[in-house]
Amino acid sequence: MACRSGTLLALVAALCFLELARPGAGAAEPAEHDVPAMFVFGDSTVDVGNNNFLTNCKLQCKANYLHYGVDYPFQSPTGRFSNGYNLADQLAQKLGFDKSPPAFLSMPNGGIIPQMSKGINFASGGSGLQDATGRAVCTEVFNMSAQVQSFTSAVQKMGNNTADLISRSLIFISAGSNDVFEYTDIPSNTTRNDTEFLQTLVASYTIHLKQLYGAGARKFGIVSPSMVGCCPSQRAIARDNKYDLDAYGCFAAANSLSRKLYPMVYSMLRDLSADMPGMYYSLADSVGMTEPILNSTIIPDTNITVLDKACCGGAGVCNLTATLCPDRGGYLFFDGYHPTDAASGVAARDLFADPGIFVHPINVQQLAALRS
Ligand SMILES: *[C@@H]1O[C@H](CO)[C@@H](O)[C@H](O)[C@H]1NC(C)=O
Ligand SMILES: *[C@@H]1O[C@H](CO)[C@@H](O)[C@H](O)[C@H]1NC(C)=O
Ligand SMILES: *[C@@H]1O[C@H](CO)[C@@H](O)[C@H](O)[C@H]1NC(C)=O
Ligand SMILES: *[C@@H]1O[C@H](CO)[C@@H](O)[C@H](O)[C@H]1NC(C)=O
Ligand SMILES: *[C@@H]1O[C@H](CO)[C@@H](O)[C@H](O)[C@H]1NC(C)=O
Ligand SMILES: *[C@@H]1O[C@H](CO)[C@@H](O)[C@H](O)[C@H]1NC(C)=O
Ligand SMILES: *[C@@H]1O[C@H](CO)[C@@H](O)[C@H](O)[C@H]1NC(C)=O
Repeated sequence: MACRSGTLLALVAALCFLELARPGAGAAEPAEHDVPAMFVFGDSTVDVGNNNFLTNCKLQCKANYLHYGVDYPFQSPTGRFSNGYNLADQLAQKLGFDKSPPAFLSMPNGGIIPQMSKGINFASGGSGLQDATGRAVCTEVFNMSAQVQSFTSAVQKMGNNTADLISRSLIFISAGSNDVFEYTDIPSNTTRNDTEFLQTLVASYTIHLKQLYGAGARKFGIVSPSMVGCCPSQRAIARDNKYDLDAYGCFAAANSLSRKLYPMVYSMLRDLSADMPGMYYSLADSVGMTEPILNSTIIPDTNITVLDKACCGGAGVCNLTATLCPDRGGYLFFDGYHPTDAASGVAARDLFADPGIFVHPINVQQLAALRS
């Protein structure tokens, strides 16, 4: 069982957004938008170094050592679970920013309020929609309630005149994969009740979103968990233990939960936005986006041909002594759980510019352009 516990390092919301044929979508320029700042919440798919500052967080839940960052400027391992930029960085770039805003925990106290006008990243690898998620594997994470609470208290400290800034900013959330990993960690647990589990996740999501809205947030870009059973570590574990493989050779229970979660999150967002005036959202059908590529040999408009093995470490841990593939642009996954810079670039592109196929009801570009 212990072998499945690397699991908490989240997978790949990103894997989700890859799509078959979308010529031209990559051409999107940093568009006209009305987003002064971006605030990021969630797990390792979007963490830019918060976990570096958690003293009790285990090494396996940090990415501040090589080969992480091998393709980042100056080859720096910043805490991003990627060879280069992650999904938050590349979505920020679509909006015209250099990269993700800085990690909240990296900032001196006096730096937080001034930085609020440009954005802050609160995400923490290993965390989930439920606050207890991540503790078993990482010992310490910056849990979702703490992320949201840190944002709301920073908004309060800014004093008056924040409403305009916060309501126009993009709130970007990528979370839920670690809850799924942890829940499926004991495959033979027959007392599992999937419906109940998923309802609990959605209820947690609702609470977080209401708090963000209460602090003035209005524009929400949301990434729901992808085919998390298809990351290399999960494939290897399911295969080696000869249990519960789906038609793609992935861990079926995990994929099945993601598939059921998306419509639940969608209807939750629809209901919430009906109750909360001025709330807008963009939600990606991650599973729908991912499935078409899982049996492909190449992802169009990319050089990605290796979908089932990690560039660094194969299916195991990535670190300085692990094998590192020379052609990082050819891999979907950088380590056993996380996409490469190339793969999250495709995800960011589709999240931003999807023409209504997999991102609903509007894409992030349209969300960003809204003026309230
Ligand atoms: C969430 O984080 C807060 C702040 O660090 C902590 O007080 C709380 O115990 C955590 N919750 C859980 C369930 O771990
Ligand atoms: C907010 O505005 C009110 C009324 O204009 C003023 O009394 C209060 O001190 C201001 N608060 C802050 C934190 O600036
Ligand atoms: C089995 O799953 C249930 C429902 O999620 C959970 O409450 C329980 O702790 C799990 N049992 C074990 C041994 O993990
Ligand atoms: C699973 O949970 C749901 C929601 O709480 C409940 O309606 C259902 O009866 C449960 N199913 C089983 C098999 O216990
Ligand atoms: C994917 O490919 C595998 C191996 O060729 C095949 O068994 C499976 O049916 C395919 N799955 C789908 C959904 O097409
Ligand atoms: C694919 O590889 C070729 C040759 O190395 C390179 O010129 C091209 O820019 C790559 N395409 C992408 C989308 O990365
Ligand atoms: C480094 O990675 C290698 C290959 O995945 C693994 O065998 C080794 O245990 C790792 N070292 C540490 C300290 O985790």
